[in-house]
Amino acid sequence: MSIDHAARRARIAPALGLHADEILVVGAGQPVPKPEVSEQHFPFVAHQEYYYLTGHAEAPGGIIAYDAKTREWTSFVPEVTEMERVWDGTEQLPGEFLSRFPAWLAARAGRKIAALGAPIVGVQSDDELSARIRENLKHARRPKENGEIEIMQRAAFATAEGYTAVQPFLSPGFSERRMQIELEAGFFRGGATTTGYGTIVGVGAQAAVFHGSPSPHRIAKAGDFILIDAGAEVERYVIDVTRTYIAGGSGTGFQRDLYMAVKTAQVRACAKCVSGTEWKDIHFGAAIDMMGSLVDMGVLKGNPTSLVEQEAHMLFFPHGIGHMVGLGVRDASGLEPGREKDPRPCLKSLRMDLILRPGYVVTVEPGLYLIPALINDPARREKYRDVVNWKLVEQHLGIGGVRIEDNLLVTDGAPINLTAAIPKL
Ligand code: GLY
Ligand code: MN
Ligand code: MN
Repeated sequence: MSIDHAARRARIAPALGLHADEILVVGAGQPVPKPEVSEQHFPFVAHQEYYYLTGHAEAPGGIIAYDAKTREWTSFVPEVTEMERVWDGTEQLPGEFLSRFPAWLAARAGRKIAALGAPIVGVQSDDELSARIRENLKHARRPKENGEIEIMQRAAFATAEGYTAVQPFLSPGFSERRMQIELEAGFFRGGATTTGYGTIVGVGAQAAVFHGSPSPHRIAKAGDFILIDAGAEVERYVIDVTRTYIAGGSGTGFQRDLYMAVKTAQVRACAKCVSGTEWKDIHFGAAIDMMGSLVDMGVLKGNPTSLVEQEAHMLFFPHGIGHMVGLGVRDASGLEPGREKDPRPCLKSLRMDLILRPGYVVTVEPGLYLIPALINDPARREKYRDVVNWKLVEQHLGIGGVRIEDNLLVTDGAPINLTAAIPKL
């Protein structure tokens, strides 16, 4: 199923909230030259907002413009040179040549301009208007169209191929790098265009580093945690999956309990991804579930809800429950229209404050970690002196942590887990 961008623009335009005297311009962005090799550039990635409205992935400098008075969209595209045809095989995109954009703009002199996407040289935009229209566009594109879901299902298939390919390499002796190689090869064999973001593979203590890069570090022994957070990208749509494994098996004792605490909370949180639910409630629900498990394990003392009210969960679960995913790894996360960012410190890393609606695709990714920077902090030790079994925590410092992440499609009924085919322990 392909996406009809003209139909999408016609649908989106009224939702932007532009007044008739206002105009909108959305820039694709400019290629960034590599500093040391003048004729080479970093891979070009068209701005998400421009791509959403045009479907043009390769349009450096491209602009899509909208006149709210005439309700007409005009796409300005780069004129392909002979050199580009010869060296890069570039084909001409449909639309007006970019050289005609200054005249289009001049014909609308004096009108307020909302500028989205990447900055466009020579455009004097209104910052307040641009911010308002950006929020409106973001909200309008939150529910995914069927065509977008179909692409995400392909990305989910490719992601599952990668996670299958890595399975024989989850035992002592294999390095984080080797796991990355096998995983990403599986993505590409499964149809990925590229990886959705920098693949994360962490072994042992490194499993608690949220955005750690894979290194030559090897799995030392059976029982070590291995955390893999990676996903395939297909046609700019990204899947974002985390699985945590225990080298050489399914673990015992404290590690197994920690794993099951996260898994239980994750499964419950996934089931709550139904239309009308407040995202914050899913976040706090998972936090309370995991604190209950830590109380059962003897790590914490007290009532789980009260522990979350005291923000004690931030010692072990210092990130949010998830975010929107799709056109980019964070996609159109953010705030429900009319809301301000919730100032509570424990929500600093919650990337969205939305009411779920059909068509939203969200990640659900609770985790529990033993992070030295938090566990060894004297202020936290003092603040939570009586509610944490510090001796037990110290015994296990260095094991890393557990995160489990799936991508859920919200529907009119039960949520659909797009990444259910990737097994958990
Ligand atoms: N892969 C980064 C994240 O899970 O948000
Ligand atoms: Mn992730
Ligand atoms: Mn994520």
